[in-house]
Amino acid sequence: MRPLLAALLLLSLSAAADDSARVQELVSGRCALCHGATGSSSSPLYPKLAGQHPEYLLKQLLNFKRGERESSDMRKVVRELEEPDMRGLAAFFSRQTPTPGNAAYPEMRAVGEKLYREGVPGKGLKACFECHGERGAGSATLPRIGGQHALYIETQLALFEERRRTNDNAQMQEIAAKLAPEEMRALAEYLSGL
Ligand code: HEC
Ligand code: HEC
Repeated sequence: MRPLLAALLLLSLSAAADDSARVQELVSGRCALCHGATGSSSSPLYPKLAGQHPEYLLKQLLNFKRGERESSDMRKVVRELEEPDMRGLAAFFSRQTPTPGNAAYPEMRAVGEKLYREGVPGKGLKACFECHGERGAGSATLPRIGGQHALYIETQLALFEERRRTNDNAQMQEIAAKLAPEEMRALAEYLSGL
């Protein structure tokens, strides 16, 4: 190999290693406390980030930074993060395997599954399935919600309903407004068990 090429290759390899060391440092120093070292938070107050789509994670971090999504915890965290670090963190967490969810309350989950798959046509409530997909797997523009903590899901649905979370192009606000509290709970239990 020509020396220049070899030097360039070495340079790009060490840049990648620096990058991952920096991301690792951020993860253990600034995220692990709440979201866990591999993004599978043990407390249901903190969303699992493991296995989440990187585009979605990046969007949320930017939303927190620009004040488009409010969270007193995350506001402090993103204050010192710039976009290249956010990209690295989003890529890191998206590659982690989430811990399995908790499939409790079979009767409530059955109600949640029906709502997820069929919506309520009479109330004009769209099925979640249409956007979030099979087993809540999501896509680049839609979060994975399958396997997420039930308490976190229920809280987000309530925030959308109260229009305290508004970074969704009004898609979720409209949907959450049509859900009763016990329907939110049933959906959250169903999704967390996937
Ligand atoms: C002090 C606790 C705390 C720390 C530390 C923390 N977070 Fe969070 N994070 C939260 C909470 C709480 C939420 C949920 C906010 C809400 O209720 O909307 C959240 C939400 C998020 C979300 C949105 C997830 C989703 O499903 O929409 C992302 C992405 C995120 N955090 C990334 C990070 C990253 C990356 C770090 C480290 C650089 C980090 N967080 C550090 C508490 C924390
Ligand atoms: C028309 C498409 C659409 C439908 C139908 C839909 N959603 Fe969503 N949902 C979205 C979008 C878009 C977002 C992401 C908003 C953002 O970028 O922050 C989202 C976000 C969410 C979140 C927040 C996830 C997180 O990690 O913070 C939850 C929970 C959720 N949806 C649950 C549901 C449930 C339950 C249903 C069915 C009752 C449903 N959604 C139906 C489009 C949809």
